[in-house]
Amino acid sequence: MTKIPLAVLISGNGSNLQALIDASAAADFPAQIVLVISNQPDAYGLTRAKEAGIPTAFISHKDFITREAFDRALSDMIEAYGGEIICLAGFMRVLSEWFVKRYEGRLLNIHPSLLPKFKGVDTHARALEAGETEAGCTVHWVATEVDSGDILAQARVPVLAGDTAQTLAARVLKEEHRIYPEVLKQVCADRLANRQ
Ligand code: GAR
Repeated sequence: MTKIPLAVLISGNGSNLQALIDASAAADFPAQIVLVISNQPDAYGLTRAKEAGIPTAFISHKDFITREAFDRALSDMIEAYGGEIICLAGFMRVLSEWFVKRYEGRLLNIHPSLLPKFKGVDTHARALEAGETEAGCTVHWVATEVDSGDILAQARVPVLAGDTAQTLAARVLKEEHRIYPEVLKQVCADRLANRQ
C-alpha cells in the first residue's frame, strides 16, 4: 500500500508521537513516519522514535538567530527525508510565517483545549481557573495565527470535582491519543485518493 511520508515535530514526552507510531504500524494506515525532529535534546519522544526504528534529528532553536532561520533548518531536514505531511505533536515553538506558508495544507497540530478557547500554554490550569465544566482537545490545520486554523476534530471530557491540571491533562491526553491518529488517517487517505 502507498503511504504518505510523515514528519513529526516534538519537544517532550512524545505520547502523541507514540499514538501515531502505534497507529501507523497497521498495514492499512495510509502514512509512514519517516522522521522525528525535536528541538530539545532530552525529549523522551526521541527515544520512542529510536525504539520504533524511526530516524531522528535534534535541531536546537538556540543555534539560530532568527525564528525563520531555525524553521528553514527544520524544513531542510524534512525535505531530506521526503516528509510530505507534518504533524506537530507537543512541539512547543511558534513557527514562522515562512514555514506555515510553505507547508500550508500539510501541517497539522494537536492542542490541549477546545479551541478557540485557551490558546497558548497552561490550558488545563486556565480551564480550571475559569470554572469550565468541560475540557478537551483539538486537531487543526496550522495557520499563521497561533492555535488558529481550520478545525478537523475535537474531543470533549468532563471537568470533575477535585481535578488538578495534572488529572485533567491525563484525561484529555487519552482523547488526544485517540483523535490525532484518526484525523491523520483521514487526511492521508483523502490525499492519496485525490492523487488517483
Ligand atoms: C499534548 O497535550 C499536546 O496537545 C500539547 O503538549 C502535550 C504534549 O504531550 N501541545 C501543545 O500544547 C501545543 N501548543 P506529548 O509530548 O506527550 O505528546
